[in-house]
Order: sequence, then structure tokens, then C-alpha cells
Amino acid sequence: MKPVNVGMLGIGTVGSGVVNILERNADVISRRAGREIRVTHASARHPERPRSCRLEGIKLNTDPFEVVDDPQTEIIAELIGGEEPARELILRALDNGKHVVTANKALIAQHGNEIFARARDNGVTVAFEAAVAGGIPIIKAVREALTGNRIEWLAGIINGTANYILTEMFYEGREFGDVLAEAQRLGYAEADPSFDVEGIDAAHKLTILASIAFGIPLQYDKVHVEGIKHISRDDVEWAEELGFRIKHLGLAFHEEGGYALRVHPTLLPRRHMLANVDGVMNAVMVKGDAVGPTMYYGAGAGAEPTASAVVADMIDVVREFNLEPENRVPYLAFHTHSLSNAPV
Ligand code: HSE
Repeated sequence: MKPVNVGMLGIGTVGSGVVNILERNADVISRRAGREIRVTHASARHPERPRSCRLEGIKLNTDPFEVVDDPQTEIIAELIGGEEPARELILRALDNGKHVVTANKALIAQHGNEIFARARDNGVTVAFEAAVAGGIPIIKAVREALTGNRIEWLAGIINGTANYILTEMFYEGREFGDVLAEAQRLGYAEADPSFDVEGIDAAHKLTILASIAFGIPLQYDKVHVEGIKHISRDDVEWAEELGFRIKHLGLAFHEEGGYALRVHPTLLPRRHMLANVDGVMNAVMVKGDAVGPTMYYGAGAGAEPTASAVVADMIDVVREFNLEPENRVPYLAFHTHSLSNAPV
């Protein structure tokens, strides 16, 4: 079988992680996908910069549109983040008949309805497991493993940088600016870190999760958003004294007449499982009517944890490529389906 060529938009922290996993685990990935998967073309704003992956066999281009228009690639991995030009690039990739794998939560939360409709029109798919909670397979869990349930509520720590800052500041006594700078150095923080500390990134992820869990359209503008910037050491000490910990949570639940989506610092009893999720780790609790409460835990940011989800989506896409259309289980189609067909 001929290899699947991937065009990658952005070869930074996550992109380098993807290249490394595809190389290191090439044997198992080929076996599981049925074809070898390799990155052959990538865009980089500064191609000369040193990277933490090997670049052999990868054509580097400063123009991402050339990657999207490359007729040799079947999948585009969008890892540049932000709204534009990511939106335009993804729409062009879909119009070119390519499947898209993305980690871009801001884009899916705000333009997902348009993107999924375009994917459906072109008979291709958009997979976005890496957009929520890094390496935790939370999209798959909610959409596939819990698909027989009515979801009653979900609650989670879904921004690794904010959780890292809270943990290091208040339990290790470090300064805000110092911890944030470290989170940036480690590749956890957003390009604009105010997205992490003001709750915007968590709100993007909550929008996506709630849409899948409840079958509602993506409605980022309806989320109540508060960040961690105003939490002081006094707040944390008082909370501790009363037996609580402060965690930044995303919450989605039924409310009379609809659903509430909220992102804000929350007091949790010290023995609550979410109160003990520290550092860059994320955790999401999901309550289904049949299964009861469930919990998913893992690294919410960072090169290989996020790349793990990107690579899994690539394998899913390739598995579907290998099937004749009439035999195709609407499995990946569901990536687009569950959102774009949601009742308004
Ligand atoms: N800045 C994000 C976080 C990256 O810290 O969670 C992963 O989405």
C-alpha cells in the first residue's frame, strides 16, 4: 500500500511531537492504520529554526497555502492555531478534498459549524480530538463510549497552564510571572497566554465538549467566562483553612429551558478528586444517566500528549480511507455529524 502523505501547517511544539511519534512508532502505526503515515510537506514561519524533530523527507515551505494545495498529500494537520489564516487554510484543504486533523480549539469553537458543513459538502472529515484536554481521549469517550447515555453534566480542569500556575503559585510559593514564563517555555501556554489565564481557552474547549455531550450547536458566545488572574494568596489560604481548594473549572449542565456553560475558579472540598489534579494535568468528569459519573485524567498540554491525539486522529482517518465508500461505517463522518446536525 502506498504511504499516506500528510501536509502539516506549523511545525512547532505539537508538530514536532507528531513527527517524532510517527517516526518512533512507525511499525505499530502502519499495522494499525493499514498504511504508513508520514509528513512530507510542512509550513514554518522560520524554517531555519532548530526543531526537536528530524526533518528528513519533509519539504519546508513558508507559505502554508502551498502545503494545502500540494496534490501529493491526503491529510492536512492544522497546528498553527488561532482563527485566521487557520480557518481559510482548513476550508481550502476541505475544498481540495483533503481530510483535516486539527488541535485548534479556538477555531472549532467559533467556526466549527461552518467548517463541518464544508467538510460534509466535500465528503471529507475534520477530526479534532487534540483540541480538548490534550492527550486525554475525551471527545472519543463522550461521543463513542458514552453514546448510549443521556449526559447529565460534565465538569473539568481543561486548561493545563492555568492549573499549573495555580498549583505552583499556591502550593510551591512561586510567582505568577515566573510560572507563566515556564509554562510558555515548556510549550503549554497559548501564543497569547491571556487565553489561558483569562479562561478563554477553557471556554473554547467547554463549548466543544458541551456541543458533543448534549447535541447542541457550538455557542461560544453563551459561555460565562472568568479566569484565574484575580485569585490571591489570601483566597487560597482562606479556602485551605475551610477545607477547600480553588480549581479553575469548566462546567456544563442542564438548566431550566436549556444548558449552562460556565468557566470560573471554583471551591472544591479538599478530598474531591478534581481538587487533587495538579500541575499541567487535566481531568474531566462526565455523568451519564446509565453509566453514572466517570472521570478521565491525563496531560492536558505539551508536545507528545497533544501529538498523541493528533496521531490517533490521523490513524482513524486512514482506517476510513481504506474502506470502499459503500462499506464505510459512519464513524469518522460522525466527527462532523454530531456537531453540524445538532438541534438548534
Ligand atoms: N494552552 C493550553 C493549555 C494548551 O494550557 O491547556 C492545550 O490546549
